[in-house]
Amino acid sequence: MTPLVKVSNLVKRFGGIVAVNDVSFEIYKGETLGFIGPNGAGKSTVVNCLTGYLPATSGKIEMNGVDITHMKPHQRVHMGLARTYQIPRPFPELTALTSVLASSISGKKRVNQSFQDAMYDATHYLEFVGLFSKRNILARDLTFYELRMLELARALATTPQLLFIDEVMAGLNPGEAKNAIQMIRKAKEQFGITVFWIEHVMAVLMEAADRIVAINYGSKLAEGTPDEVVNNDDVIEAYLGRGWRKYA
Ligand SMILES: Nc1ncnc2c1ncn2[C@@H]1O[C@H](COP(=O)(O)OP(=O)(O)OP(=O)(O)O)[C@@H](O)[C@H]1O
Ligand SMILES: [Mg+2]
Repeated sequence: MTPLVKVSNLVKRFGGIVAVNDVSFEIYKGETLGFIGPNGAGKSTVVNCLTGYLPATSGKIEMNGVDITHMKPHQRVHMGLARTYQIPRPFPELTALTSVLASSISGKKRVNQSFQDAMYDATHYLEFVGLFSKRNILARDLTFYELRMLELARALATTPQLLFIDEVMAGLNPGEAKNAIQMIRKAKEQFGITVFWIEHVMAVLMEAADRIVAINYGSKLAEGTPDEVVNNDDVIEAYLGRGWRKYA
């Protein structure tokens, strides 16, 4: 099967720090791929390189067989990549609706489509994440949970094929976290998107992920089904601890 995204020998250096060290993996259409590793392992940096937020130092990123390694972020959005940030990055002075409208105007479907259509879509995605009643509230006045949902609506409004989620649980209370997970599931079902999901809460990925890739110090440690990965000795040693043996 041809992968949706193929990452080959990705390297990202920040001065003397090698944040991502020769990492290769594939993302297949329709799957939920979990991405795990300790703090500072390089997870967000991988997403930053895949989405074009940061240039890769070396290596190759292909999407549907097209080399996107040197494409600009907006070109990758038009190819069908979208993301949420580990720490939400709202436009504080825009309303929730205008924030999503900006995405639906710049998303891949929008070229040659009308403003009314973009507005209709923006309203739809805001409603989808449960923020319709907040549509006229400035982003700076939203709660942290609402900002996470706004990020999701903005990402979905670009009509992605592949959504990168960089931790959705962090900073949410248990009830909000549960809602957020359900929202991602619902988005996957309703829009048929592929999901690449960084998460520290392993129980979530055990449930949601079809496969998991684990990294440590910028290098790939393991790859496989959730059961395989949580029982991998290197992953247990570097990240999970012995408690995960119970899945053996
Ligand atoms: N813009 C940057 N400039 C310099 N160093 C960076 C930059 N971004 C990340 N790093 C460094 O790269 C390494 C990997 O960081 P990254 O944020 O990718 O880790 P992570 O796996 O996402 O961690 P966490 O689970 O805490 O979010 C760390 O040593 C970090 O300090
Ligand atoms: Mg991170």
